[in-house]
Amino acid sequence: MAKNDLIIRVAGEGGEGIISTGDFIAAACARAGLEVYTFKTFPAEIRGGYAMYQIRTSPDRVYNQGDTFDVFCAFNGEAYEANKHLLTPGTAFVYDYPGGDFEPDAIPEGVHAYPIPMSKTAKEMKSYRSKNMVAMGALSVLFNISEVTLKQVLTKKFGKKGEEILNFNLQAFEKGRELALALNKTDAWRVADPAPPKDVIVISGNDAAGLGALLGGLEFFAAYPITPATEIAKYVATHLPKLGGTLVQAEDEIASIGQVLGASYAGKRSMTSTSGPGLALMTEMLGMASMSETPVMLVNVQRGGPSTGLPTKHEQSDLFLALHGAHGDAARIVLSVEDVKDCIDMTVDALNLAEEYQSPVILLSDGSLAFSTQTVPRPKPGDFKIVRRKMWDGEGTYKRYAITDDGISPMVDPGTPGGMHIATGLEHTETGAPSFKGEVHEQMLDKRFDKIKPLVDRYHPAEVDGEGEADVGIITWGSTIGVAREAVARLRAEGYKVKGFYPKLMWPMQVAQYEAFGATCKKILVPEVNYQGQLSHFIRAETSLNPIPFTIYSGMPFTPIQMIDKVKEIL
Ligand code: COA
Repeated sequence: MAKNDLIIRVAGEGGEGIISTGDFIAAACARAGLEVYTFKTFPAEIRGGYAMYQIRTSPDRVYNQGDTFDVFCAFNGEAYEANKHLLTPGTAFVYDYPGGDFEPDAIPEGVHAYPIPMSKTAKEMKSYRSKNMVAMGALSVLFNISEVTLKQVLTKKFGKKGEEILNFNLQAFEKGRELALALNKTDAWRVADPAPPKDVIVISGNDAAGLGALLGGLEFFAAYPITPATEIAKYVATHLPKLGGTLVQAEDEIASIGQVLGASYAGKRSMTSTSGPGLALMTEMLGMASMSETPVMLVNVQRGGPSTGLPTKHEQSDLFLALHGAHGDAARIVLSVEDVKDCIDMTVDALNLAEEYQSPVILLSDGSLAFSTQTVPRPKPGDFKIVRRKMWDGEGTYKRYAITDDGISPMVDPGTPGGMHIATGLEHTETGAPSFKGEVHEQMLDKRFDKIKPLVDRYHPAEVDGEGEADVGIITWGSTIGVAREAVARLRAEGYKVKGFYPKLMWPMQVAQYEAFGATCKKILVPEVNYQGQLSHFIRAETSLNPIPFTIYSGMPFTPIQMIDKVKEIL
């Protein structure tokens, strides 16, 4: 496959403005009509530690962060040490020298080296904070990143910090350009020329989930901050009140899910967002939502676990918890997103499903997607259907848990005349009256599980990537799907018979679709970023397939080459 994308990695000390530099370059590429996919990782400490930002840009759609970088910009020695093994022939290496805190080893043969005295220049300007803008100016010249759009985004962000800071940074940007112009460019790397502008937004997975919530008619959000989910609540807090909704910051995750339950019982479309440790705390209330058939939606942004684990690192290891967390048989619906566009669309779906099926809905995102920014077609409110909960028509005697054909019972807003009832966590009869009779428990468990079963055929089917028979079928989920897409395409281009299967409705499981896919593949490989092979476990438990688990758990997402090499190994 001809390479028509460019991957730039910027790395240095948290606090040196790595993230801003990356964000500006990504925004400039998007404004130039190019597709972008960014990935960033930063330390759990609030200051200091290794921060890295990677931009992949192309005139065509990009689905993941790529195998490695084409251009590497090192702000300090720690970043250089962490990445020098990736400086292979053909790559370009921009680094803070002379005057930085390190001197690189001998530049490997074939690596294009560009020393830029970033720190020294910033110090001479008496504006150390502007070191990153010196670097950005140099990158703009060396790799054809539009100077105009970089200045626009720089001005937009730093303009808010006052005239002096803005001017320091504009000067630093210019200095960086001059320093690079004085160098002899020997590599061929360049950002593609501007394409016709598209009506897109460049947005992070977390902001996209917040936007999806608003487009999905959210009315109440209970928040408790936790990395890497906090930005969802921040986004909603900024915009929901303008739309007449309410966001409350609770004292902890248990209070958050309790407030969501209460607001939903009161008739409001409600949600919260959290990460693994928070989801663990919420499971008892999720059981209450399942038992009382109260619509509840939560976005769980997975991080390295268990316990406090790795707050800023990537993992998809909450599937066990999401699918079955809670004591007893607690029915719920679980969805997982692939990319930033899904974070918008499927947050709307999740709110609609909670309301329609009167069930807890958990939407699984993950750490790399939370902070990844991607180009997404600009969504418009009219694009989305809002599904309302089934309401009592006021006829006859009201029974909150009436047995109906589809298992969905009519709800009422509290205070509705004739609509008084008990919404209880105790097992109960159709009227909600507590009951401990065996036959009632059987009837109501059947009801709570049967009502969501039709989803396996009603929700979007899992995507099958490829036709006919295959030697290897790759089944994966979450943001790992984006990596599989590229691995499948590259393997096919090399003549391998490989297909992909990308489920997004994780529970109830679309078993027939897994079986149909498995019947066309000699081997099934299940790559996922967790230790136990959690999806493999459910495939073995729920289907006749016998997948080969392929797990990594380094706090980083897969790269396409890792999957490609694994497929070749098992073949
Ligand atoms: N001139 C002036 N200000 C600049 C600048 C420049 N040239 N370059 C960056 N800045 C500002 C940025 O605007 C930002 O300020 P803001 O937050 O008010 O926008 C700040 O400096 C940090 O810069 P940024 O580029 O966003 O990040 P960074 O690359 O310096 O990395 C992080 C900093 C991301 C490591 C750190 O800010 C962080 O977020 N740490 C917390 C990590 C975490 O969540 N831990 C888990 C806890 S459980």
